[in-house]
Amino acid sequence: MRTLITNGTIVTADGSYTADVLIDGETIAAIGAGMAGMAGMNQVDETIDASGRYVIPGGIDVHTHMELPFGGTFAKDTFETGTRAAAFGGTTSIVDFAVQSRGASLRAGLDAWHAKAEGNAVVDYGFHMIMSDVNDDTLAEMDQLVAEGVPDFKLFTAYPGVFFSDDGAIFRAMQRTAKNGGLIMMHAENGLAIDVIAADTVAAGTTDPIGHGLARYSVLEGEATNRVIRLAQAAKVPVYIVHLSAREALDAVRMARDEGLPAFAETCPQYLFLSLDDLGHGFEGAKFVCSPPLRTVDHQPELWKGLVRDDLQVVSTDHCPFDFHGQKDLGKGDFRKVPNGLPGVEDRVDLLHDGGVVGGRITKERWVAITSTAPAKLFGMYPRKGAVAVGSDADLVIYDPNRKRTISAASHHMAVDYSCYEGRTVQGASDIVMSRGSVVVRNGEFTGRKGHGQFIRRSLADHARMA
Ligand code: URP
Ligand code: ZN
Ligand code: ZN
Repeated sequence: MRTLITNGTIVTADGSYTADVLIDGETIAAIGAGMAGMAGMNQVDETIDASGRYVIPGGIDVHTHMELPFGGTFAKDTFETGTRAAAFGGTTSIVDFAVQSRGASLRAGLDAWHAKAEGNAVVDYGFHMIMSDVNDDTLAEMDQLVAEGVPDFKLFTAYPGVFFSDDGAIFRAMQRTAKNGGLIMMHAENGLAIDVIAADTVAAGTTDPIGHGLARYSVLEGEATNRVIRLAQAAKVPVYIVHLSAREALDAVRMARDEGLPAFAETCPQYLFLSLDDLGHGFEGAKFVCSPPLRTVDHQPELWKGLVRDDLQVVSTDHCPFDFHGQKDLGKGDFRKVPNGLPGVEDRVDLLHDGGVVGGRITKERWVAITSTAPAKLFGMYPRKGAVAVGSDADLVIYDPNRKRTISAASHHMAVDYSCYEGRTVQGASDIVMSRGSVVVRNGEFTGRKGHGQFIRRSLADHARMA
């Protein structure tokens, strides 16, 4: 199959220009001006006129939780529904978190995630590994996973009794990545202190979801962020902070980067577009319970500044959807029992285009960088993914920067019964989405195939070590 995309504005992290793109099979074969008239172009199977539209590398969401067991239930999207929704939103690769259950091996967790994804995903996927136990056996297993293209490991200073690791465990895992070339990703909130405050909050009579936001102080995200960065400094390894939400945490990252340390961080659309106010309104606020929690609005301009100045390199979603009816309501009467997580994989690229590019906060090139190219580099996928370049996978989106759409649970494709952005109109939408040369979404219709998605065997986090 050969496809020629003509007259589009190719937008990359480095610049934009008008050119044609020839796709041969699964990869980009040529890029140049006026290719339609050239010899051999009569053997093209399809020509797509992208005039007036962008041609961008497919979005890469490096933080999703399909089917995550959490809070006594499971995140609702499967690899099929979740990657399908991702594709509708212009995201052509995800990196999901496989989970090591306490007492089990990393291998068992990874095998379970391979089984969930293989034959089901509609776009390509990779895995990080959530480490619940750090011991001699799991440390040794880390090396094997790195060799298998799963080179990063998420540890938590939050969720005591579930995923929590103490500083010694975190440090041991970091020491291991100093040897095996992997990357530690940190959920940085001081979960021990937060649990005390949350218990006090409930005892004082606040049981609604607003209590979740009130108890998880931003200063305790800042403290934990600084602590894990300093642990990484001592272990002489890079570290990546996931779902950064608070000014205090950003300050810690910025200070480390100013010192020349390899500290990296992502934020998520919910921290840029939603706020603590959304956690109010009685139990409706459960729709917005995630950790770290939504913050007061004054954190938002700081996060945007962080994105502009590259103290934040990535925007991922932390997609972890639970139905309002039947799942979130497990926490009626005690906010601590609301399953933590929000849906978002479908809306990230458009929200960032609308609020970022149309909103005048970032350039369209920066938009491509934070949604595709930077995650590809930091997570060992570049230039196969995250680039519009000869030889790269033809994961491409023909993006209309002017089309408007209104986000709603009635029309989204995520398997969840509400949207955090219900009724919000965004400017910018994916018209055609290609995964390895195949059109998977065209003008609002799914044209892909369950099982088309392949496992992305990722390389070491060299970019994190050389940046
Ligand atoms: O609330 C969240 N973030 N749920 C997913 C698990 C995690 O901590 O990333
Ligand atoms: Zn987390
Ligand atoms: Zn997460």
